[in-house]
Amino acid sequence: MKLFLLYYSGAGNTQLVATYLMRQLRRMGHSVTTKFAKKGLKLPSISGYDGLIVGSPVYAYQPPDTLLEVVKHLPKLKSMPVYTFMTKGLISGNAPLALANAIESKGGIVIGHSEILMADTLFLLTSHRGSLWEWFMLQANMLAVRQIKRLPHKVIKAFERKSRYRFRKKLYVPLTNIIAREFHRFVEEKSRLFFADEKCDLCGACVGLCPNSNIRIVDEKVIFGEDCDLCVRCVHRCPQEAIQIGRYIAKAPRYVPQRDRYLRELMK
Ligand SMILES: Cc1cc2nc3c(=O)[nH]c(=O)nc-3n(C[C@H](O)[C@H](O)[C@H](O)COP(=O)(O)O)c2cc1C
Ligand code: SF4
Ligand code: SF4
Repeated sequence: MKLFLLYYSGAGNTQLVATYLMRQLRRMGHSVTTKFAKKGLKLPSISGYDGLIVGSPVYAYQPPDTLLEVVKHLPKLKSMPVYTFMTKGLISGNAPLALANAIESKGGIVIGHSEILMADTLFLLTSHRGSLWEWFMLQANMLAVRQIKRLPHKVIKAFERKSRYRFRKKLYVPLTNIIAREFHRFVEEKSRLFFADEKCDLCGACVGLCPNSNIRIVDEKVIFGEDCDLCVRCVHRCPQEAIQIGRYIAKAPRYVPQRDRYLRELMK
Protein backbone atom coordinates (compact mmCIF):
# COMPACT_ATOMS: atom_id res chain seq x y z
CA MET A 1 0.00 0.00 0.00
CA LYS A 2 1.10 3.58 -0.64
CA LEU A 3 0.28 5.67 2.44
CA PHE A 4 0.66 9.32 3.46
CA LEU A 5 1.23 10.01 7.16
CA LEU A 6 0.50 13.54 8.38
CA TYR A 7 1.10 14.32 12.04
CA TYR A 8 1.47 17.13 14.53
CA SER A 9 3.44 16.88 17.75
CA GLY A 10 4.50 19.09 20.64
CA ALA A 11 6.97 17.51 23.05
CA GLY A 12 7.24 14.49 20.76
CA ASN A 13 4.88 11.69 21.89
CA THR A 14 2.87 11.75 18.66
CA GLN A 15 6.05 12.14 16.63
CA LEU A 16 7.53 9.04 18.26
CA VAL A 17 4.41 7.01 17.48
CA ALA A 18 4.36 8.34 13.90
CA THR A 19 8.04 7.43 13.42
CA TYR A 20 7.51 3.94 14.81
CA LEU A 21 4.44 3.45 12.64
CA MET A 22 6.28 4.63 9.53
CA ARG A 23 9.22 2.28 10.16
CA GLN A 24 7.06 -0.76 10.87
CA LEU A 25 4.79 -0.18 7.89
CA ARG A 26 7.87 0.08 5.66
CA ARG A 27 9.22 -3.14 7.18
CA MET A 28 5.88 -4.75 6.30
CA GLY A 29 6.48 -3.74 2.66
CA HIS A 30 4.33 -0.61 2.44
CA SER A 31 5.43 2.74 1.11
CA VAL A 32 4.98 5.62 3.57
CA THR A 33 5.57 9.36 3.12
CA THR A 34 5.45 11.45 6.31
CA LYS A 35 4.97 15.16 6.91
CA PHE A 36 4.94 17.24 10.10
CA ALA A 37 1.88 19.54 10.09
CA LYS A 38 3.60 22.87 10.72
CA LYS A 39 1.60 26.10 10.53
CA GLY A 40 0.98 27.16 6.92
CA LEU A 41 1.73 23.72 5.45
CA LYS A 42 -0.16 23.23 2.21
CA LEU A 43 0.08 19.77 0.71
CA PRO A 44 -0.05 19.19 -3.03
CA SER A 45 -2.49 16.56 -4.30
CA ILE A 46 -2.28 13.24 -2.47
CA SER A 47 -4.70 11.46 -4.80
CA GLY A 48 -1.99 8.96 -5.84
CA TYR A 49 -2.02 7.43 -2.33
CA ASP A 50 -4.13 4.48 -1.17
CA GLY A 51 -4.76 6.07 2.20
CA LEU A 52 -3.99 8.85 4.64
CA ILE A 53 -2.98 8.47 8.30
CA VAL A 54 -3.37 11.49 10.59
CA GLY A 55 -1.66 11.57 14.00
CA SER A 56 -2.47 14.15 16.64
CA PRO A 57 -2.09 14.85 20.34
CA VAL A 58 -5.09 15.94 22.44
CA TYR A 59 -4.84 19.52 23.69
CA ALA A 60 -7.69 20.63 25.94
CA TYR A 61 -10.01 17.93 24.59
CA GLN A 62 -9.43 19.11 21.01
CA PRO A 63 -6.88 18.53 18.25
CA PRO A 64 -4.31 21.36 18.07
CA ASP A 65 -5.60 24.36 16.05
CA THR A 66 -2.51 24.19 13.83
CA LEU A 67 -3.32 20.64 12.72
CA LEU A 68 -6.97 21.51 12.07
CA GLU A 69 -5.80 24.42 9.94
CA VAL A 70 -3.50 22.15 7.88
CA VAL A 71 -6.34 19.62 7.41
CA LYS A 72 -8.64 22.46 6.31
CA HIS A 73 -6.16 23.30 3.55
CA LEU A 74 -5.67 19.71 2.35
CA PRO A 75 -6.52 19.05 -1.27
CA LYS A 76 -9.90 17.32 -1.81
CA LEU A 77 -9.67 13.78 -0.44
CA LYS A 78 -12.26 12.27 -2.83
CA SER A 79 -13.42 9.39 -0.56
CA MET A 80 -9.85 8.54 0.44
CA PRO A 81 -9.76 6.19 3.47
CA VAL A 82 -8.20 7.88 6.51
CA TYR A 83 -6.94 6.33 9.76
CA THR A 84 -6.55 8.66 12.75
CA PHE A 85 -4.53 8.10 15.91
CA MET A 86 -4.24 10.31 18.95
CA THR A 87 -1.92 10.41 21.92
CA LYS A 88 -3.42 11.72 25.15
CA GLY A 89 -2.67 12.21 28.84
CA LEU A 90 -6.07 10.97 30.02
CA ILE A 91 -9.31 12.11 28.38
CA SER A 92 -9.73 12.86 24.68
CA GLY A 93 -13.13 14.62 24.91
CA ASN A 94 -14.27 15.90 21.54
CA ALA A 95 -10.81 15.69 19.92
CA PRO A 96 -11.32 12.48 17.85
CA LEU A 97 -14.66 13.63 16.46
CA ALA A 98 -13.42 17.16 15.74
CA LEU A 99 -10.51 15.73 13.75
CA ALA A 100 -12.78 13.24 11.96
CA ASN A 101 -15.24 16.03 11.07
CA ALA A 102 -12.40 18.14 9.65
CA ILE A 103 -11.22 15.17 7.55
CA GLU A 104 -14.71 14.27 6.36
CA SER A 105 -15.40 17.88 5.36
CA LYS A 106 -12.50 17.47 2.89
CA GLY A 107 -14.15 14.33 1.50
CA GLY A 108 -12.09 11.73 3.38
CA ILE A 109 -13.67 8.70 5.07
CA VAL A 110 -12.39 7.79 8.54
CA ILE A 111 -12.03 4.00 8.56
CA GLY A 112 -10.21 3.55 11.87
CA HIS A 113 -9.13 5.37 15.01
CA SER A 114 -6.79 4.60 17.93
CA GLU A 115 -6.02 6.46 21.15
CA ILE A 116 -2.83 5.92 23.12
CA LEU A 117 -2.40 7.01 26.72
CA MET A 118 1.09 8.48 27.20
CA ALA A 119 2.91 10.75 29.65
CA ASP A 120 1.07 14.08 29.87
CA THR A 121 3.54 16.61 28.52
CA LEU A 122 1.74 19.55 30.16
CA PHE A 123 1.09 18.02 33.58
CA LEU A 124 4.72 16.83 33.75
CA LEU A 125 5.58 20.52 34.00
CA THR A 126 3.64 20.70 37.28
CA SER A 127 6.01 18.15 38.85
CA HIS A 128 9.53 18.49 40.23
CA ARG A 129 12.54 16.65 38.79
CA GLY A 130 12.91 13.25 40.45
CA SER A 131 9.57 13.49 42.33
CA LEU A 132 7.05 10.70 42.82
CA TRP A 133 4.51 12.69 40.75
CA GLU A 134 6.93 12.77 37.81
CA TRP A 135 7.56 9.01 38.17
CA PHE A 136 3.81 8.34 38.34
CA MET A 137 3.06 10.29 35.15
CA LEU A 138 5.81 8.51 33.22
CA GLN A 139 4.25 5.10 34.02
CA ALA A 140 1.65 5.74 31.31
CA ASN A 141 4.42 5.09 28.78
CA MET A 142 4.88 1.54 30.10
CA LEU A 143 1.28 0.75 29.07
CA ALA A 144 1.65 2.69 25.82
CA VAL A 145 4.41 0.47 24.42
CA ARG A 146 2.10 -2.53 23.85
CA GLN A 147 -0.56 -0.39 22.23
CA ILE A 148 1.96 1.32 19.95
CA LYS A 149 3.36 -2.05 18.86
CA ARG A 150 -0.14 -3.20 17.85
CA LEU A 151 -0.87 -0.01 15.86
CA PRO A 152 0.72 -0.92 12.47
CA HIS A 153 -1.36 -4.12 12.21
CA LYS A 154 -4.55 -2.30 13.27
CA VAL A 155 -3.92 0.36 10.63
CA ILE A 156 -3.39 -2.13 7.81
CA LYS A 157 -6.44 -4.21 8.84
CA ALA A 158 -8.59 -1.07 8.78
CA PHE A 159 -7.31 -0.06 5.33
CA GLU A 160 -8.06 -3.58 4.04
CA ARG A 161 -11.60 -3.55 5.50
CA LYS A 162 -12.30 0.07 4.49
CA SER A 163 -15.54 0.38 6.45
CA ARG A 164 -16.51 3.72 8.02
CA TYR A 165 -15.44 4.00 11.67
CA ARG A 166 -18.24 4.66 14.17
CA PHE A 167 -17.20 6.97 17.01
CA ARG A 168 -18.75 6.26 20.41
CA LYS A 169 -21.07 8.95 21.79
CA LYS A 170 -19.54 10.59 24.87
CA LEU A 171 -22.02 12.13 27.27
CA TYR A 172 -19.41 14.25 29.02
CA VAL A 173 -18.37 16.18 25.88
CA PRO A 174 -20.48 19.34 26.58
CA LEU A 175 -18.53 19.70 29.84
CA THR A 176 -15.10 19.22 28.24
CA ASN A 177 -16.10 21.70 25.51
CA ILE A 178 -16.66 24.36 28.20
CA ILE A 179 -13.25 23.56 29.76
CA ALA A 180 -11.67 23.72 26.28
CA ARG A 181 -13.02 27.25 25.77
CA GLU A 182 -11.61 28.37 29.11
CA PHE A 183 -8.32 26.72 28.23
CA HIS A 184 -7.84 29.05 25.28
CA ARG A 185 -7.77 31.97 27.73
CA PHE A 186 -5.28 30.03 29.90
CA VAL A 187 -3.00 29.50 26.87
CA GLU A 188 -3.11 33.19 25.96
CA GLU A 189 -2.18 34.16 29.50
CA LYS A 190 0.63 31.60 29.93
CA SER A 191 2.17 32.11 26.49
CA ARG A 192 2.92 35.73 27.46
CA LEU A 193 5.14 34.41 30.28
CA PHE A 194 7.60 32.50 28.07
CA PHE A 195 11.25 33.56 28.29
CA ALA A 196 14.73 32.07 27.82
CA ASP A 197 16.77 32.25 31.01
CA GLU A 198 20.53 32.76 31.48
CA LYS A 199 21.27 29.16 30.40
CA CYS A 200 20.33 30.06 26.80
CA ASP A 201 23.36 30.01 24.48
CA LEU A 202 21.40 31.37 21.47
CA CYS A 203 21.80 28.07 19.58
CA GLY A 204 18.59 28.85 17.64
CA ALA A 205 17.10 25.33 17.96
CA CYS A 206 13.80 26.62 19.36
CA VAL A 207 13.27 28.82 16.28
CA GLY A 208 13.13 25.74 14.03
CA LEU A 209 11.30 23.59 16.56
CA CYS A 210 8.19 25.72 17.02
CA PRO A 211 5.36 24.35 14.82
CA ASN A 212 3.87 27.86 14.68
CA SER A 213 7.08 29.76 13.79
CA ASN A 214 6.39 31.77 16.92
CA ILE A 215 10.00 32.14 18.12
CA ARG A 216 12.62 34.55 16.76
CA ILE A 217 16.04 35.65 17.84
CA VAL A 218 16.47 39.39 17.62
CA ASP A 219 19.51 41.29 18.89
CA GLU A 220 20.80 38.19 20.71
CA LYS A 221 17.50 37.77 22.53
CA VAL A 222 14.94 34.97 22.17
CA ILE A 223 11.54 36.51 21.42
CA PHE A 224 8.26 34.62 21.81
CA GLY A 225 5.34 35.91 19.71
CA GLU A 226 1.62 35.67 20.35
CA ASP A 227 0.84 32.64 18.16
CA CYS A 228 1.47 29.95 20.76
CA ASP A 229 -0.60 26.76 21.20
CA LEU A 230 1.24 25.84 24.43
CA CYS A 231 2.42 22.67 22.72
CA VAL A 232 5.49 22.92 25.01
CA ARG A 233 7.79 21.59 22.28
CA CYS A 234 10.29 24.41 22.82
CA VAL A 235 10.19 23.93 26.61
CA HIS A 236 11.00 20.21 26.50
CA ARG A 237 13.40 20.29 23.55
CA CYS A 238 15.64 23.29 24.34
CA PRO A 239 19.07 21.64 24.71
CA GLN A 240 19.94 23.97 27.61
CA GLU A 241 16.52 23.57 29.34
CA ALA A 242 16.50 27.35 29.31
CA ILE A 243 12.87 28.03 28.35
CA GLN A 244 10.69 29.02 31.27
CA ILE A 245 7.01 29.92 31.73
CA GLY A 246 7.17 32.63 34.36
CA ARG A 247 8.45 30.97 37.50
CA TYR A 248 6.08 28.00 37.26
CA ILE A 249 8.36 25.38 35.72
CA ALA A 250 11.82 26.22 37.08
CA LYS A 251 12.01 22.89 38.94
CA ALA A 252 10.04 20.82 36.44
CA PRO A 253 11.63 17.99 34.44
CA ARG A 254 12.09 18.32 30.69
CA TYR A 255 10.80 15.30 28.79
CA VAL A 256 12.17 13.76 25.61
CA PRO A 257 10.13 10.66 24.63
CA GLN A 258 13.08 9.04 22.78
CA ARG A 259 14.99 8.97 26.08
CA ASP A 260 12.10 7.58 28.12
CA ARG A 261 12.98 4.24 29.77
CA TYR A 262 9.90 2.52 28.28
CA LEU A 263 9.60 4.23 24.89
CA ARG A 264 13.23 4.06 23.78
CA GLU A 265 12.89 0.37 22.85
CA LEU A 266 10.53 1.47 20.05
CA MET A 267 13.34 3.45 18.43
CA LYS A 268 15.49 0.37 17.70
C1 LIG B 1 -1.56 22.15 25.99
C2 LIG B 1 -1.83 20.73 26.34
C3 LIG B 1 -3.12 20.35 26.61
C4 LIG B 1 -3.40 19.00 26.90
N1 LIG B 1 -4.70 18.63 27.10
C5 LIG B 1 -5.01 17.33 27.23
C6 LIG B 1 -6.37 16.90 27.32
O1 LIG B 1 -7.31 17.68 27.25
N2 LIG B 1 -6.63 15.59 27.46
C7 LIG B 1 -5.62 14.67 27.51
O2 LIG B 1 -5.91 13.48 27.64
N3 LIG B 1 -4.32 15.03 27.43
C8 LIG B 1 -4.00 16.34 27.28
N4 LIG B 1 -2.68 16.71 27.15
C9 LIG B 1 -1.63 15.68 27.15
C10 LIG B 1 -1.20 15.33 25.74
O3 LIG B 1 -2.33 15.03 24.93
C11 LIG B 1 -0.29 14.12 25.72
O4 LIG B 1 0.78 14.26 26.59
C12 LIG B 1 0.19 13.88 24.29
O5 LIG B 1 0.79 12.61 24.23
C13 LIG B 1 1.20 14.94 23.86
O6 LIG B 1 1.64 14.61 22.56
P1 LIG B 1 2.80 15.44 21.83
O7 LIG B 1 4.05 15.23 22.64
O8 LIG B 1 2.88 14.82 20.50
O9 LIG B 1 2.35 16.86 21.80
C14 LIG B 1 -2.35 18.05 26.92
C15 LIG B 1 -1.04 18.45 26.67
C16 LIG B 1 -0.77 19.78 26.36
C17 LIG B 1 0.63 20.19 26.05
S1 SF4 C 1 16.85 26.35 22.03
FE1 SF4 C 1 17.22 27.05 24.12
S2 SF4 C 1 19.40 27.54 24.17
FE2 SF4 C 1 18.81 27.44 22.01
S3 SF4 C 1 18.24 29.57 21.47
FE3 SF4 C 1 16.36 28.54 22.10
S4 SF4 C 1 16.17 29.02 24.28
FE4 SF4 C 1 18.30 29.44 23.71
S1 SF4 D 1 6.31 28.90 21.38
FE1 SF4 D 1 6.85 26.89 22.22
S2 SF4 D 1 4.95 26.21 23.22
FE2 SF4 D 1 4.38 27.90 21.86
S3 SF4 D 1 3.74 26.92 19.94
FE3 SF4 D 1 5.95 27.40 19.76
S4 SF4 D 1 7.01 25.54 20.43
FE4 SF4 D 1 4.89 25.40 21.12
